[in-house]
Amino acid sequence: MPRLLIVHHTPSPYTQEMFEALLSGATAPEIEGVEVVRRPALTVSPADMLEADGYVLGTPANLGYMSGALKHAFDMCYYPCLDSTRGRPFGLYIHGNEGTEGAARGVDSITTGLGWVKAAETVVVSGKPSTADIESCWELGATVAARLMG
Ligand SMILES: Cc1cc2nc3c(=O)[nH]c(=O)nc-3n(C[C@H](O)[C@H](O)[C@H](O)COP(=O)(O)O)c2cc1C
Repeated sequence: MPRLLIVHHTPSPYTQEMFEALLSGATAPEIEGVEVVRRPALTVSPADMLEADGYVLGTPANLGYMSGALKHAFDMCYYPCLDSTRGRPFGLYIHGNEGTEGAARGVDSITTGLGWVKAAETVVVSGKPSTADIESCWELGATVAARLMG
């Protein structure tokens, strides 16, 4: 069964709301035949990455970049995944007020190196997620998961 891996750094209630909406979309009843696995970014292994068929990445903006946790995940997994995960779809959500562009740019640069294919627009949320923000996170999860349906 195709597997979607959610790699997320979730340090606060607002980021938890985004994560839960994302997960809800990825596991919606209309998504059939896709296994959804979630891993906090500080715990994800190269094996987790290799065994997945697509990815959703979630991070706050930290110091104008992706969180150290998500960067750590890439530091651990980049070379083990290189050339083995090329062409796989991914999505990205970011929470922050300033520097979210730097976070997006960093992820885009690394995923370009890996040869991953962006399957949906990046979702960027500031402050308390609005109803529309929550819907965007849900859509992101559903869209990337739907790409993996047989
Ligand atoms: C070390 C550190 C650096 C941070 N840098 C930024 C930053 O550059 N821009 C920003 O908007 N928020 C920054 N934040 C705040 C986080 O992005 C924020 O906690 C996260 O988006 C979740 O939001 P919340 O705490 O309001 O739920 C930083 C937080 C930490 C711990």
